[in-house]
Amino acid sequence: MSLSRRRILAGSGIAASALTLGPLGQATAAQEAAPRPFRPHDWKSVRAQFLLAPEYAHLSNFFFASNPTPVREAITRYRRAFDENPYSFLDDNMFRRDEDMLWRDVCAAAAEYVGGKPEEIALTSSTTMGLALVYNGLRLKPGQEVLTTTHEFYPHHESIRLAVEKWGGSMRKIPLYESAQKFSADEAVARIRAAIRPHTRVVGVTWVHSGTGVRLPIAPIAAAIGELNRHRDEADRILLVVDGVHGFGVVDEDVAAMGCDFFAAGTHKWILGPHGTGIIWGKPESWALLRPTIPSLMAKETTDAWRQERPPAGPTQAAWVSPGGFFAYEHQWAVIEAFRFHRQIGRGRVHDRIAELNGQIKEGLARMKHVTLHTPVDAERSAGFVCFDVRGHKPPEVVQIFRDHRVIASGTPYAVPHVRLSAGIVNFPKDVDRALRVVRSLA
Ligand SMILES: Cc1ncc(COP(=O)(O)O)c(C=O)c1O
Repeated sequence: MSLSRRRILAGSGIAASALTLGPLGQATAAQEAAPRPFRPHDWKSVRAQFLLAPEYAHLSNFFFASNPTPVREAITRYRRAFDENPYSFLDDNMFRRDEDMLWRDVCAAAAEYVGGKPEEIALTSSTTMGLALVYNGLRLKPGQEVLTTTHEFYPHHESIRLAVEKWGGSMRKIPLYESAQKFSADEAVARIRAAIRPHTRVVGVTWVHSGTGVRLPIAPIAAAIGELNRHRDEADRILLVVDGVHGFGVVDEDVAAMGCDFFAAGTHKWILGPHGTGIIWGKPESWALLRPTIPSLMAKETTDAWRQERPPAGPTQAAWVSPGGFFAYEHQWAVIEAFRFHRQIGRGRVHDRIAELNGQIKEGLARMKHVTLHTPVDAERSAGFVCFDVRGHKPPEVVQIFRDHRVIASGTPYAVPHVRLSAGIVNFPKDVDRALRVVRSLA
């Protein structure tokens, strides 16, 4: 093991069992001078790991994560090491010896979280990049279609549009519900099943809809597709692609066991990882169906093949799809600490806390006659979002009123916008009470 790697790992908790700052982990910000001890079972201690401005009720943290102490410290350690010796630090940890490549530890941490294997993970910079790499890399036959829904966010629709244009295929969008409040999981599965045609090659859905707060049942959708696939040739198998970003870090489910082919998610939202980071998880047999889009630096075979002036040998692997070009490695590698933070708290506890706080928001709003709640109250059909409208006020107006009262809410960026509140593990019931008071005052 190289010296640099040993120094970094000593402070990262990867090799050491307790989080101890290495020589590179000198804190800079005042709050970091005396980091508060992290007791994963105490929500106050969890919150104390964040630098979130205390005067606000932060109910939009899903958008772009505030990073907890261990993630910030890891970024600082890596950045300092790069500043001290950029060539050697990168060479030691990225190129010199296969077993010293830190990206392998990132894949291992992600794999543990999703219940899969490190070789099933590609590292990206966002959900958007993940979706684009999947759709652009899938080879459709002319005339084949991607079936998707009317509930997708822009990067999903746009990735599909760009890909089908390239392959001479088409895209079809169906609604899975008319009223999000009355969303039925069984009906959504039935609608997808009924809409699949002989030339449908890919089904693209989103786990948790950021425009309504609805959570789709991915495993039953995958099972329905699996049944249809039993009557298809392997070459025409229907593939299930999931934009998973708003369930990832919220829902207590093993992504690798849900049955989809590809799952793209940023790790800079609910996972609380560094900005500009994300993953794609793919079924081992499905990676072979992708053509990489961006040259990778993580696969020996692709670079060896280039030097030897031959095509890479064998089926595409996840690492071949991880984009190369140098990344902000201080961010990419510090994702390990974000997964570790979740593991320490416990995926089940994270889910329960988010469900409880968002449940409190929904119950409060449901009692207000001047509010139309769109998100299902039931925690099984929703996750970390609460979308609603306030009679007589446009969503941006309500978001501004919230801001004036030190509540950070958001507006949904869809054709039909709503107001959106979203409680995460950094919140407390008092944040929800403050938000509800503001809405009540608008009656
Ligand atoms: C459903 C959904 N997918 C994708 C994205 C974009 O995520 P990223 O910034 O990781 O590309 C968003 C943004 O919040 C979203 O709501």
